[in-house]
Amino acid sequence: MPDLEIRNLHVRAGDKDILRGVDLAVGGGEIHALMGPNGSGKSTLANVIMGHPSLEVTEGEILWGGENITEADTDERARMGLFMAFQYPVAVPGVTVTKYLRTVLNAHRASRGEEPISLRDFRQTVQSAMELTKVPEEFTRRYLNDGFSGGEKKKLEILQLAVQQPSLAILDETDSGLDIDALRTVAEGVNTVAGQQGSDLGVLIITHYQRILHLVQPSHVHVLYKGRIVKQGGPELVGELEAKGYGWITDEVDAAAV
Ligand SMILES: Nc1ncnc2c1ncn2[C@@H]1O[C@H](COP(=O)(O)OP(=O)(O)OP(=O)(O)O)[C@@H](O)[C@H]1O
Ligand SMILES: [Mg+2]
Repeated sequence: MPDLEIRNLHVRAGDKDILRGVDLAVGGGEIHALMGPNGSGKSTLANVIMGHPSLEVTEGEILWGGENITEADTDERARMGLFMAFQYPVAVPGVTVTKYLRTVLNAHRASRGEEPISLRDFRQTVQSAMELTKVPEEFTRRYLNDGFSGGEKKKLEILQLAVQQPSLAILDETDSGLDIDALRTVAEGVNTVAGQQGSDLGVLIITHYQRILHLVQPSHVHVLYKGRIVKQGGPELVGELEAKGYGWITDEVDAAAV
């Protein structure tokens, strides 16, 4: 049974129908890539999986481990092991990275009936996550995403991933704006978390470029267009898209629509 299962999902924001019947399943340990032209609904799909309050599910459902979470709030989903790295991480002035990580970790522990993490264990967890993601220590004393460069924010998202160790990680254009070394670090971070003993991490990578997909290799590739998945394939589809663009897929879809 796949861990994440999306069935016939229709989503509206304001008076706009953005997703129009999406089916997608991501099993534990699987890496999926979600691609598609700008404005096709990729971030919307990521946001609705996390339960963004401004999105309305008008039809269909989202299941997590067989449980219907379509109406669950974002906090609850996070506690159930869903994690998303944002396309545009927001700054939280006044809350340091350390404070943020500790609050999130303890909220997760509380939901499992566990005591707050000891200072020693917390330091150790953050320390190893920092080594993995090559985030300098001084960053953790700064306010979350406040004044961080674009690439630094993306790295911080992976630091959160490494600390939280979720069951499903949605990475929304985490590769955009990263230099070549940072891209490699981020990819290694994802692969290490996924490869950890006992980990059954499912990954949904939203990206426009094949370069991250050479480092974090998907087994399934989906193309979203106008709110529907219009093409699916294996890793070979990535190279095909890079070479040919989306026109050969979207022309066919548009022709069928008239
Ligand atoms: N809250 C909203 N209100 C109105 N329209 C919205 C809202 N959120 C998203 N949209 C629209 O839905 C469409 C899909 O947006 P989305 O951000 O999901 O695209 P995307 O595939 O992630 O694009 P990109 O590759 O540029 O990141 C866009 O046309 C966007 O303007
Ligand atoms: Mg987007």
